[in-house]
Amino acid sequence: MSNIPSITVSDVALDRLETPLLVIAVPKEGVEVAGELAAVDAATNGALGRAISRRDFRGGRDETLLLGGSATGIQRVLLVGIGASPAGGSTAAERVLQVRRAAMLAGRQANKIGVGALAFYGATTETLAEAAVVGLCGGAWDFREMKSPVPEADQRAPLTSITIVTSDVPPGSKAKAQQGAKQGEAIATGYSLARRLGMLPGNVCTPDYLADTARDIAKRFGMKITVLGRKEMQAEKMGSFLAVAQGTTQDPKLIAIEYSKGKPGDAPVALVGKGLCFDSGGISIKPAADMEWMKFDMCGAAGVLGAMEAIARLELPINVVGLIGSTTNMPSGEAFKPGDVVQASNGKFIEIINTDAEGRLVLADVLTYAKRFNPAVVVDAATLTGAVVVALGHTAVGVMGNDDKVVQEVIDAGKRASEPGWPLPMWDDYKEIIKSDVADIKNAGGRAAGTITAALFLKEFAEGYPWVHLDIAGTAYTQADLGTVPRGPTGVPVGIFVEFVRGRAS
Ligand code: BES
Ligand code: MN
Ligand code: ZN
Repeated sequence: MSNIPSITVSDVALDRLETPLLVIAVPKEGVEVAGELAAVDAATNGALGRAISRRDFRGGRDETLLLGGSATGIQRVLLVGIGASPAGGSTAAERVLQVRRAAMLAGRQANKIGVGALAFYGATTETLAEAAVVGLCGGAWDFREMKSPVPEADQRAPLTSITIVTSDVPPGSKAKAQQGAKQGEAIATGYSLARRLGMLPGNVCTPDYLADTARDIAKRFGMKITVLGRKEMQAEKMGSFLAVAQGTTQDPKLIAIEYSKGKPGDAPVALVGKGLCFDSGGISIKPAADMEWMKFDMCGAAGVLGAMEAIARLELPINVVGLIGSTTNMPSGEAFKPGDVVQASNGKFIEIINTDAEGRLVLADVLTYAKRFNPAVVVDAATLTGAVVVALGHTAVGVMGNDDKVVQEVIDAGKRASEPGWPLPMWDDYKEIIKSDVADIKNAGGRAAGTITAALFLKEFAEGYPWVHLDIAGTAYTQADLGTVPRGPTGVPVGIFVEFVRGRAS
């Protein structure tokens, strides 16, 4: 389902290592081609030392150099630059992010060469090994299941085997790296699941499909699962969510999976995801150009499922509930329309201005539903606004909430996961923009502060608990090849979710 390479940790010395590809992450300060690395220099007939002393390879960020190695032993060497250490040297945390990025490039490169297996050198601590595994698996992630196989002569072996080589230097590093690699495998599996779900087209990845995926996770890890369909949501008076689902014949789904490895009765962390399996805009229909990308409007939901998978594999001692609101936003004779007024399950009346502002309508009822779990905190992720791309581009997740401390906690988690977030203000002044003439609130203002007004809308439904909202519209998928990630899903917000929960679990 979500295949990742097999992972082992080895303490074999480099002069006895047998690998089709040895990856070495090199900082801009260079490396000493001595000691351990003398064996690599020998395997490349001195090319490693020459590449560095001639400054063909300088260790700049994202710089790579492939060297031929021996017929046996180390058969190829890939140098990947991780860039300069910040003044005063990289902190351990920064080095982790650098290694993860280098590993992503290496994983992707391994697929392009077709080596099938690689060894990664230098990840000798728990956190470095975890980062290396997450990076290598992420870089090697690929979506081929809807492509016919290429002729045998043109095939390149996908990366199926990763070895983290520690040489057990310093002593004890093998055990630490093993622990980290295991954690990395858990997180990489979560990422892989989320990215696969993102890539799957809307005619396959339907609300039913997300529900089935959640059921599969629940079954494998012994979680409790609840799935509400249209009928059950009608009984719950979820008029806001149901308005969006009015134009589709597919059954909408509100999914709740409960992971309970924390103390019984401990308030859970709730992770909430927007799961629009396709967003046409509805009656306020979107332009045709790029509309196919709106299959990615379920990346928040994919992030929840990926995070639940990872959290369960990590066996984190904490209670977590994953909540997903899933449907498609379609125009039809039955569809909701601008001017309609609907009532959410918390009783608030909403005037529909634009049917394309549907994510907040779905989340309004899911956030209301979250209250019944008495959550310690709720974090939602949604591809909610195009405006977040205007504000922060494709680099940072927009972070907002009703509690500045928890907002900062989430931003810190994102930093640890290489998924940076940035806060936007939630001042009441902005609320003027979404005041309605006929109802309590309207679902869209103008173009001004679009990300903030969307978050302020959600805030009206995130009542009675600390809450953080992640606008991932600019970061959950990429329309440009990023080097580390090809066009398509990035896996955001799996990392933020997992790091946030892990931070709370310790
Ligand atoms: N799913 C979109 C947001 C989006 C836009 C995600 C571009 C990724 C890329 C969301 O449902 C939407 O359409 N938002 C509208 C809100 C507006 C009508 C107030 C938007 O951003 O244009
Ligand atoms: Mn929309
Ligand atoms: Zn949408």
